[in-house]
Amino acid sequence: MNILVTGGSGQLGRAIKDVAENSEHRFIYTYMSSQNHDGMVHLDISGPEEVNKVMDDHNIDVIVNCAGYTDVERAESEEDKAFKANAEAVEILAGAAKARGAVLIHISTDYIFDGSSSRPYREDAEASPLSVYGRSKLAGELAVRASGARYMIIRTSWLYSRYGKNFVKTILKKSEEQPLLKVVSDQVGTPTYAGDLAEFILTLLEPENLEKTGTYNYTDEGVCSWYDLACEVCDMSGNLCEVVPCETGEYPVKAARPHYSVLNKSKVKKTFGIEIPYWKDSLRHCMSEIATSLRSSQ
Ligand SMILES: NC(=O)c1ccc[n+]([C@@H]2O[C@H](COP(=O)([O-])OP(=O)(O)OC[C@H]3O[C@@H](n4cnc5c(N)ncnc54)[C@H](OP(=O)(O)O)[C@@H]3O)[C@@H](O)[C@H]2O)c1
Repeated sequence: MNILVTGGSGQLGRAIKDVAENSEHRFIYTYMSSQNHDGMVHLDISGPEEVNKVMDDHNIDVIVNCAGYTDVERAESEEDKAFKANAEAVEILAGAAKARGAVLIHISTDYIFDGSSSRPYREDAEASPLSVYGRSKLAGELAVRASGARYMIIRTSWLYSRYGKNFVKTILKKSEEQPLLKVVSDQVGTPTYAGDLAEFILTLLEPENLEKTGTYNYTDEGVCSWYDLACEVCDMSGNLCEVVPCETGEYPVKAARPHYSVLNKSKVKKTFGIEIPYWKDSLRHCMSEIATSLRSSQ
């Protein structure tokens, strides 16, 4: 099969590239503005002509849409841009998939929920996003469902990897430079290693799994706060930095975030018969990858 991975220059796209290296399928990765895009095809997913051309040039069977506007803070002042990439462009991809009988695997987020639940969110829980980013991602989900394309929407949370910008890398760097870090302890969710999600996406490409269309939650196992995650990063790295818990209100941010956004994974485990790694095990693995890549770049 020919698989189009949009957002190939992002952290999830790069993680897919790593795990798909020996796959029997042919992967076409796309970038939009990144400087570092070795061998990838340029694609702005908000341009219908560009999308249709890439679909036809490469005879695409499956789109894995990892592209998106992911800056939660900046989205508050760039609503148009967020909706263009996360909703309008997703409608274009879904239309292109539908027209060719291709499957669209689309990545969504825990930030479509408002966090008022005290139990992990199931796929059918009511969405009520608090931020522009969350609303734009929800609009993207609705566009996929309305398109008539064969689709899988995969909701994930708190992605990190050795690539790009993410919380784990930020804490790692700050804890080397500063003696004390204040981190919010009243937002609870699940960190997800992009490599684990990438492995799961490859599982979805098996023919019997591509039939299992619908919406699924996929995050790593377990629950923690951003504060817990920062403590773990410092412990695992050996950085001697004191991490102090604080409340969301102590930080001047524009975008409201859910206080609780843990996703229930019963459906995905039952449907695909998968086991999901515990977040601390995956974090340890990723930290050693980051250390290796830092050593090799020195
Ligand atoms: N990061 C998280 O914590 C998190 C949590 C839950 C869900 N998600 C979802 O997971 C997916 C992947 O996230 P990520 O962290 O891998 O994102 P990322 O590292 O920020 O990468 C975003 C990618 O989207 C591309 N892109 C942006 N606008 C585009 C457009 N108009 N046309 C084509 N490509 C465009 C970027 O290309 P260039 O860089 O080349 O411009 C980049 O490759 C997204 O859908 C995100 O909403 C992320």
